[in-house]
Order: sequence, then C-alpha cells, then structure tokens
Amino acid sequence: MQTGILYGISVGPGDRELITLKGLRILKESTVVAFPAGIGGKPGFAQQIVGQWLGSNQIQLPLSFPYVNDSVALAQAWLKAAEQVWQYLSLGQDVAFACEGDVSFYSTFTYLSQTLQQLYPETVVQTVPGVCSPMAAASSLGIPLSVLDQRLAVLPALYHVKELEIVLDWADVVVLMKVSSVYKQVWQLLEQRQLLEHACVVERATRSEQVIYRDLSNQPSLKLPYFSVLIVKVTQSSN
Ligand SMILES: C[S@@+](CC[C@H](N)C(=O)[O-])C[C@H]1O[C@@H](n2cnc3c(N)ncnc32)[C@H](O)[C@@H]1O
Repeated sequence: MQTGILYGISVGPGDRELITLKGLRILKESTVVAFPAGIGGKPGFAQQIVGQWLGSNQIQLPLSFPYVNDSVALAQAWLKAAEQVWQYLSLGQDVAFACEGDVSFYSTFTYLSQTLQQLYPETVVQTVPGVCSPMAAASSLGIPLSVLDQRLAVLPALYHVKELEIVLDWADVVVLMKVSSVYKQVWQLLEQRQLLEHACVVERATRSEQVIYRDLSNQPSLKLPYFSVLIVKVTQSSN
C-alpha cells in the first residue's frame, strides 16, 4: 500500500486570513490534522489558527513537544510524535501538520519530519511556505523590515549577550526571536548603544491580542509573552 503524505503547512502568525490558499486546501483535504499540543489542556497556537477550518470528519492529532533545552527529552518527544503520525501515514492517510508562522523557520516540524524519515525512509514530506513572525511584526509596525543593501540578522534565541554585540556591529536591522526570557539584558545593551529609540517589540503579531511597543526607552522591564519579537533598526534609512 502507498503511504500517506506528511504535509507541513505554514498557517501564519495568528491572523486566520494569513494562511495561503494552497495551505488551506491541503489542510481541508487531509484525513488527519496534527499540531503542537497546547499547555495545560488549552488549544495550542496553531490549533487556534486552523480550528475554524477543520471538518467534523477530520481526525485532530495534538502532539506533545516540551518547551525545554534538554536534548534527550526533545528527542524522545520527536520519536513519540513520529510514531503517532506514522500510524496514519502507514495506512495511506495524509497527515497535515499545522505549523505556526512558516514551517521552515525555526519550526518543530523539521525535527518531526527528520525523525520520521530516519525511522521510515519511505516517508514522503511536502511543505507549504507561509508568513513568518518577523515579516508579520514588520507589517504590524507598518515598517519595511529591510531596504536596499541593508543587512538583516535574525537571532533565533539569545543565550549570550556577547552574540548580540557581534551582530549589532555587523547588521543594519536585527530581529530577536524568543526575546521574552532575555529582555532585560537586551534592553541594557541597547541602552549602552543608544538604540532603544529605534527598537520595537511586537507581542502576538497579527492576533487580536497583539501589543506593540515602539521606542523602548521607557520600557526597561517589560514582561513579554513567549510569542514576542524585537526589531532594532541599527542604522537609519530614509525609508
Ligand atoms: C519556535 S519559533 C517559531 C517561529 C515561527 N515558525 C515563525 O515562522 O515565525 C517561536 C518564536 O517565534 C516568534 N513568534 C512566532 N509567532 C509570533 C507572533 N505571532 N508574534 C510575535 N512573535 C512570534 C517568537 O519570538 C517566538 O519565541
């Protein structure tokens, strides 16, 4: 029997209209729709985005991925999720994995699909691109993310402030993902460099709960949610 296809569908940053037509079509056509399980029994972010598009005949498959840095615990979670997904693929049923933002941009989907292909090399994977959070945040702020020859740097997470110093010396525009846990240190460094005025934070970009902070000069101790990005314009363009 032919196995089903594992689709990685980018569902966008939050606004339900920011999924692509192709992503929506495949999502609706798939027998099984998987997504990262929410915390504390609540629906996860991707699940909230796609919930309204799913039919009662579709199987919903929440997969647990812990928010930890422990590589053993993570590998175990990917293995378990891969087996859960394979149950359906092996029966010839397609599984669409709903991924918040873009599926190729710091997404759990990559680990899930790699684990599946290691366990079952016959696994067929297809992805549908979409809107990732830095682009969504720039749109919410009403600014271009980069223009002309500007160098754009994206830091997926900051474990040492030294990394940010190096990047600030090089880039014209810097995007910090997962900034919530290091905001205080970042603020101090931006203050030293006199960049606070040119820094913005967008919480939950494009969602109804979106919050925007422009000019962080008076915001030394923001308590940010996990879904927050910070954008710093290191050099000022006329655009
Ligand atoms: C594991 S990464 C996932 C990135 C996602 N695949 C994307 O395309 O944006 C999680 C980080 O993305 C950022 N993020 C994702 N969605 C966001 C949103 N709607 N608003 C603000 N930040 C978001 C946050 O910095 C968060 O800590």
